Amino acid sequence: MRTQALFATHIYTARLGARGLKSLNARLLRESRQLRADDAAGRRWSARNYSGGYTSYGSVHRMHELSPTFAALARALEPHVARFARTLELDLTGRPLAMTDCWVNIMGRGGSHGLHLHPLSTVSGTYYVSAPAHSAGLKFEDPRLERYMAAPPRLTSARPWKVLEARSGSLILFESWLRHEVPPNSSAAERISISFNYGWF
Ligand code: NI
Repeated sequence: MRTQALFATHIYTARLGARGLKSLNARLLRESRQLRADDAAGRRWSARNYSGGYTSYGSVHRMHELSPTFAALARALEPHVARFARTLELDLTGRPLAMTDCWVNIMGRGGSHGLHLHPLSTVSGTYYVSAPAHSAGLKFEDPRLERYMAAPPRLTSARPWKVLEARSGSLILFESWLRHEVPPNSSAAERISISFNYGWF
């Protein structure tokens, strides 16, 4: 007798581990704050769409093409994305995954970002530039949740969601169809992250 776990949902976490991470991180931090100061359109967009914070998602969302610092981050992410693609057993013969979007998120205390997925993408993720104490993590929902009709409750260890901690200098990768959210943030200092999408088109 044996029970097999089929069709697992993979989520990849790692410390960035780039050479010169400390200096890269300091530059990302400075440029993220500068972007918020310069990006009036993004601040207006965030006021309507991003509760309690600033995001450049609606205004400046290709930072890897605009800033050498963000391009350096993209290069440092490459081996991680390649490793994750191998775990997922993606057949990328003849066409690589390519970063299509890369944007900044700055969240104050009480900020949150409701459940969503990343349409038109293959792999998505976030790099945490600064995740001070009590920063909100990233909450993933079991993709089978809408099929749980008439299912009995499960033990806490098997609940249909999981929060992964946000850690400065670390990244999380997931398949873009996986629904996730940022629960209300409790950090006194700003939680600063950079999110990105990879496409295969
Ligand atoms: Ni997201």
